[in-house]
Amino acid sequence: MIHVQSLSYSFGNHWALKDVSFSLAPGDFLFLVGPSGAGKTTLMRVLHGSLPVQRGRAEVAGVDLGKLKAGRLHYLRRQIGVVFQDFKVLAGRTVFDNVALPLYVQGMKKQVIQHRVRAVLRSLELDTKAQCPCQELSGGEQQRVAIARSVVIKPKIILADEPTGNLDHELGQRLMHVFHQFNKHGTTIVFATHNREILANTPHANILYLRDGATVVRENAPYG
Ligand SMILES: Nc1ncnc2c1ncn2[C@@H]1O[C@H](COP(=O)(O)OP(=O)(O)OP(=O)(O)O)[C@@H](O)[C@H]1O
Ligand SMILES: [Mg+2]
Repeated sequence: MIHVQSLSYSFGNHWALKDVSFSLAPGDFLFLVGPSGAGKTTLMRVLHGSLPVQRGRAEVAGVDLGKLKAGRLHYLRRQIGVVFQDFKVLAGRTVFDNVALPLYVQGMKKQVIQHRVRAVLRSLELDTKAQCPCQELSGGEQQRVAIARSVVIKPKIILADEPTGNLDHELGQRLMHVFHQFNKHGTTIVFATHNREILANTPHANILYLRDGATVVRENAPYG
């Protein structure tokens, strides 16, 4: 589902990723860990096609990102649910509209959209907020809206960049349950986190530890 080989990425003369390699099959779960500035977000952005492949190879959902044509990017993005670190939600739109947007873009029927969005909002305990404008939400609520928006398309791959950063312990755990459920149904997940408890609670995951853009350790056992 994801194959990365000798991937390097530089911003100017600073190498944010250095010779990173890994492979994920459908249903695999990968944690990206490492100190601030290690390259986690950069790697996510390359996998999402928002930064180009400069060196090495990256293939995502059968698409070779090094040879990506503009038309294919659209196809690729339909397979990937993303939760970015700065989880931008559309202020001025309701929670429901924010989550429904990617389904509207896909041209899905209104009734199906209603059904899907309600189910996702329920699973993230946002159902009572459906009609709230997003600017009136707390940080943690906005983060959950971003997560709802990423999973509502039933993606093959989820790229989640510290999605539990703003959530309290209990909510973070419930949220992990949502990710685990998707993973159980075959969704491949790449998840950046600093939280050791989350790593310990996902024992089947692989772990890629980055430092200064390079792979320090890669392991299959729980971390911490
Ligand atoms: N747009 C940019 N322009 C220049 N340098 C950048 C840019 N984005 C990231 N970098 C640099 O690339 C390196 C990797 O950054 P990245 O955001 O991938 O780290 P990270 O592991 O996600 O860190 P954090 O845990 O703080 O989110 C850092 O040294 C950062 O300063
Ligand atoms: Mg980051």
